[in-house]
Amino acid sequence: MKKVTVVGLGYVGLPTAALIANAGYKVHGVDVNEALISELQSGICRLEEPEVKSAVELALTSGNLVASTEAAEADIFIICVPTPVTRNKLADLSMVRSAINATAPFIRSGNLVILESTSPIGTTDRVIARSLELAGHNLEDIDICYCPERVFPGDTVREILENDRVVGGLTPKAAKRAGSFYQSFCKGKPNLTSAAAAEFSKLMENTFRDVNIALANVFSHIAEQAGVDVMDVIEMANKHPRVNVHTPGPGVGGHCIPVDPWFLIEGFPEEARLLESCRQINDGQAEHFLRLAEKSGLKPGSKVAILGAAYRGDIDDARDTPTEMLIASLGKAGYSYVTHDPHVVRMALHCGYPANLTSDLSETLEDASAAFIMTDHTVYRDLTSDLFSMMRTKLIIDTRRVLNAPEFVEDGFSIIRVGAPTLRASA
Ligand SMILES: NC(=O)c1ccc[n+]([C@@H]2O[C@H](COP(=O)([O-])OP(=O)(O)OC[C@H]3O[C@@H](n4cnc5c(N)ncnc54)[C@H](O)[C@@H]3O)[C@@H](O)[C@H]2O)c1
Repeated sequence: MKKVTVVGLGYVGLPTAALIANAGYKVHGVDVNEALISELQSGICRLEEPEVKSAVELALTSGNLVASTEAAEADIFIICVPTPVTRNKLADLSMVRSAINATAPFIRSGNLVILESTSPIGTTDRVIARSLELAGHNLEDIDICYCPERVFPGDTVREILENDRVVGGLTPKAAKRAGSFYQSFCKGKPNLTSAAAAEFSKLMENTFRDVNIALANVFSHIAEQAGVDVMDVIEMANKHPRVNVHTPGPGVGGHCIPVDPWFLIEGFPEEARLLESCRQINDGQAEHFLRLAEKSGLKPGSKVAILGAAYRGDIDDARDTPTEMLIASLGKAGYSYVTHDPHVVRMALHCGYPANLTSDLSETLEDASAAFIMTDHTVYRDLTSDLFSMMRTKLIIDTRRVLNAPEFVEDGFSIIRVGAPTLRASA
C-alpha cells in the first residue's frame, strides 16, 4: 500500500488527507498545531462541514490516517500550509519554507513532492526545489509538482473529488506522475502543465473573482447615487448572453480572494495596477457602509450590532472576513459593537480590536443604534422585525440583501441596502 505524508491539516489539508486515506493509501498527516493533532489522535475533527467530518472520522477509525507533529517517510508528500500576506501585502512564504525544511530529511530518491498551497509564480522552483537541493537532495531523483486546490468551503469533499485540476510539474514526467496520483482518488480531470503555469492559473482564478466582485461593488456605488436598484439592473444586464455581473456586497474574505491578487501585484506591480484598485474597492466596502449609516444618523460612541463573522453564508471560516474590516473601522471611530455568528466560534483578528463574538442574538441587538448584516447565513434570511425591536434605533444596514426590506420598513425601520436607495420608515 502506497504511503502519503500530508503536511498542514487545515481546511484543505485535512479533508485531502482523509479522502486519500479513504481511497486506500496509508496517510501520515502532519501539523505544527499540537492541540489539533491530539484532537485528531482522539478521533475528533474540528472542521464543521458534515461531509468533511465523516470523511475524517472514517479515515481515523480505519487506521489509514494517523496524525502527528512529526513528518514520516512516504512515497508522496503533499504540502498544504498557509500562504498569507504580511501587513505590507507581501507574500509570506515562511510556513512553506519551514514545512519543506522539516520534511526534507524524510524525502528519499524516487519520491513525488507536491505543493498545494496557493503561491506566487516561481515558488515551487525557488522554495521547494531549492530547499530540497540545500538539504542535499539530487533534484533529478525527485519529482516536484505544484497542484493548487480549488475547493469552495461548504462543499469541500465534492469539490476535491470532482473539480478538474491543474497539475504543474517542474518536469513533464513529474506532472504526469502527479496527474496519475490525483486520478487514483479524484474524478476531476488533471490538466498537465508547468509548475509556473499552474501557480499563475490559481492566482488568475482568484484574481478574476476579486476583480469581478470589485466591479459589481462599483456598480452598486453608482446605483446608490443614481437612485436605482443595482440588483434589478444586474438581473437585466445578465440576460445578455456574454455578460455575467457578480453580486455586490460587504467585500471579499477567506484565505484566498483577498490575498492571492497581492502575489501578482507584488511580482508585477506595473502590469497589475487594476488589481490593486480592485483590492482597495473590496477592502473599502465595510467603511463605505459605515459612512452610509452615519449619513442616516449613526453617531460614534454608540453600540453597533454585527450579524455575521464568516466571510460567506453557512460556513465557520472567518479568516480575512469583511467583518474584520468593519470592526477595524468601528474601533477606530470609537463605536462599541457585538458580533453575532451561529457558526463561527473563534476569530483571530489582525486589526488590533477584539471580535466580541457571541451566538446570542439578543445580546447583539439589545440597545444597538444600528445592525450591520455582513453574512448571508440562512438563519438571517428568516429574521423578522420583532426580534430587532430591542434596538435603540431602528437602522439596519443589509450588505447582503437577506432581509424582507418592505416588511421591516412597514414596522418602522430604515434599511440601507447594498446598491439601492435607502428605504426609510414613513413618519
Ligand atoms: N481554505 C480554502 O478554501 C482554500 C482553497 C484553496 C486553496 N487554499 C490554499 O491552501 C493552503 C492552506 O489553506 P488552509 O485553508 O487549509 O489553511 P489552514 O490555516 O486551515 O490550515 C493550514 C494548517 O497548516 C498548519 N501549518 C502551518 N505551518 C506548518 C508547518 N510548518 N508544518 C506543518 N503544518 C503547518 C497550520 O497549523 C494549519 O493547521 C493556503 O495556501 C490556501 O491559500 C485554501
